[in-house]
Amino acid sequence: MVMDPIPPVQPAAPSTTVITDPEVLAAYREDASSLMGAPDGLVRPTDPQEVAAALAHASGRGIPVTTCGLRSSTTGAGLAPRGWTLSTERMVGLVDLDRRNRTAIVQAGTVLRDFKDAVEAEGLFYPPDPTSERECAVGGTVACDASGARTYRYGATHRWVRGVEVALTDGTVTWMRRPRIDKDAAGYAALRDPVQLFCGSEGTLGVVTKVEVDLLPLPEAYLAGLAFFGDVQQALAFVGAAREQDRRGGGVRPRCLELLDGLALQIMGAQDSGVVMPAAAGAAVFFEEEHAHGAEGPVMEAWWTLLSMASGALPDDTVIASNRAEQEELRRLRHAVPATLNDEGRAFHAAGGRKISTDWAVPFAQLAPFMADCDRWLLEAGIGRVARYGHVGNGHPHYNLIVQDAAEAARAAAVVERMCQQACRLGGTVTAEHGVGKVKTGYLKYRFSPLQLATMKAVKRVFDPTGILAPGNIWAEE
Ligand code: LAC
Ligand code: ZN
Repeated sequence: MVMDPIPPVQPAAPSTTVITDPEVLAAYREDASSLMGAPDGLVRPTDPQEVAAALAHASGRGIPVTTCGLRSSTTGAGLAPRGWTLSTERMVGLVDLDRRNRTAIVQAGTVLRDFKDAVEAEGLFYPPDPTSERECAVGGTVACDASGARTYRYGATHRWVRGVEVALTDGTVTWMRRPRIDKDAAGYAALRDPVQLFCGSEGTLGVVTKVEVDLLPLPEAYLAGLAFFGDVQQALAFVGAAREQDRRGGGVRPRCLELLDGLALQIMGAQDSGVVMPAAAGAAVFFEEEHAHGAEGPVMEAWWTLLSMASGALPDDTVIASNRAEQEELRRLRHAVPATLNDEGRAFHAAGGRKISTDWAVPFAQLAPFMADCDRWLLEAGIGRVARYGHVGNGHPHYNLIVQDAAEAARAAAVVERMCQQACRLGGTVTAEHGVGKVKTGYLKYRFSPLQLATMKAVKRVFDPTGILAPGNIWAEE
């Protein structure tokens, strides 16, 4: 499974300095979760060999190593509870762009949006679009198998990664690549593609230093829209109708279907923007659809037809963005929702409060009744400030709960656990894009059987025999 090995390094000591200055380390103690890390050293390697050398050194001495990208994680995955933080921030840039085969190789520390801009300048397109694309590193998106709004059409990061260069704890640097054959019956299907092991591995198996991805031709143009509804259930019914048309063909063909509830709309309306949120709206659906140059007419028509049939829709208030500036403005407003709520939650840290965010997903058919249950549980628990938004086209809304003190946080946590347990009973998952990190380790038992969990742990032991990598990620420490 290991291809193109680069000769191993035999380090006596890491070739990068281990920084222990508390002022420098302070910046690496936090991410977008409410957890705090406590690294006692920081390494910032500039190339894969330096990473491998640092890992081999740490492995030989039992020093824990937690890798971080740009610390936009909501799960604490890049926060070191002790030992070293290994930051990929100095490994930046596009390494190769193969226009003919539409693939690219990029260094792990590159800001995702910078990478996407670089390939878009060449008329190519990398579809994964986490909301944090301007703040996250490509390696981090592989580590947590990030997705985003356009996952509705294009799937998550793991679908686009064709190879990873990884530094391992034995001091080697290795390329792993997806097999290029159509058929394969050799061994366990789940382990035939080593690249898939690293998607979602959250720094527990090694350090991803370069990523090779598939690209598409850049869509010529697209239309973005914000359609308003009286309430969330009406918005979900519209999403269901859009999905149904998409499946059958001949109507709308969205690349994303996102929900924004009343509080999300309030936050968007409070931004300095020309977009007006209608007073009667209790929810909205954000959608995008690609089309050829000059061909937005039929696309707009299909959405109007669907909207005219939707119950509770406020079609006259619909916002359509057909040029780049308007589309960027809508995305900026959408991004303001989690960003504003993060700030709100932070203000309650001192009192034991915070923002609690869900990332569960259920099969779409279960979504509307399940959200009604979740809303009732939150009401019963007395959780007052709740935003529901995100990727409902994939059965994947985020609930953001702003809790003001420790008592409310405990009640909210109990509801979130109940949501996760029930989501799995319905055939869903406890995390659909942010990863497990240190905040969802307790919920994995709802998602996987003991046998599956034991298999995952056994894989980790193969890659990390001394158990130094990313303590507390995916599995809580005993
Ligand atoms: C979003 C992030 C929070 O959907 O996943 O905005
Ligand atoms: Zn999301």
